[in-house]
Amino acid sequence: MTTENSTEVALVTGASRGIGFGIAQAIVARGDRVVITGRNEDALKEAVEKLGGPGHALGVAGKAHDEAHQAAVVEQAMETFGRIDHLVNNAGTNPVFGPIADVDLNVARKVFETNVISALGFAQRTWKAWQSQHGGTIVNIASVAGLNASPFVGPYGISKAAMINLTLQLAHEFAPVVRVNAIAPAVVKTKFATALYEGREEEVIARYPMGRLGVPEDIGGAAAFLTSPAAAWITGQTLVIDGGIFLNASV
Ligand SMILES: NC(=O)c1ccc[n+]([C@@H]2O[C@H](COP(=O)([O-])OP(=O)(O)OC[C@H]3O[C@@H](n4cnc5c(N)ncnc54)[C@H](OP(=O)(O)O)[C@@H]3O)[C@@H](O)[C@H]2O)c1
Repeated sequence: MTTENSTEVALVTGASRGIGFGIAQAIVARGDRVVITGRNEDALKEAVEKLGGPGHALGVAGKAHDEAHQAAVVEQAMETFGRIDHLVNNAGTNPVFGPIADVDLNVARKVFETNVISALGFAQRTWKAWQSQHGGTIVNIASVAGLNASPFVGPYGISKAAMINLTLQLAHEFAPVVRVNAIAPAVVKTKFATALYEGREEEVIARYPMGRLGVPEDIGGAAAFLTSPAAAWITGQTLVIDGGIFLNASV
């Protein structure tokens, strides 16, 4: 049953915790509703409750790369809320650490499937279900790893660079109806990034001019801005949110 409500709706993939949850919180806090995804159904239910319950959030469990899941998410979002104004492609994976010379190509394919092809699949579906007729925005959560060489996480960096180009392609094709932008965060304190700072946080922080690592709220605020009318003339951009770490780059 469709809920009669004029507030907007954002679909945020991979949002039971971490950055996706931070984005969902920021969108709900401004009065809009969210559809969130993730693989673990119980974690998703808990997140829906934390976001204010069924009037504010809908959880649909599944794997981002699974096309049947993508179809079910969009269908349930339309059935429940009647619209999908914003899509935030946030679900991502990085299962490998090590030299790129040794990377198992099947693992590299999986990284691409989850990080890039899923984002394209969701964008095709939200465009056709609602956005092409009514407008809206797409935000792709890339990474600073997509903007530079990223030792030991090569396939991940390549996939995030592809996400940045996917952002350009979609922004070009969907203009002027839908704005499409990317966010490229440096290290944000989440379960996903634990290996990058745990046990040596002070040492990692020392490279950040802002004197701390990121938190999901840092990305939530930026996603709320990019999906709002305040960003009405911004499309095809990648917003780097890195606590200033790129300031350290020198030849
Ligand atoms: N944290 C960082 O430092 C950082 C920096 C740059 C970019 N990013 C990007 O930010 C995004 C979110 O990362 P995070 O740090 O917030 O990670 P996180 O804390 O581990 O959260 C990931 C979320 O996505 C869900 N998820 C994971 N794999 C999924 C899949 N295949 N299909 C559907 N849902 C999936 C997880 O729930 P389930 O486990 O239940 O599926 C969880 O809700 C990723 O795209 C990542 O590449 C992160």
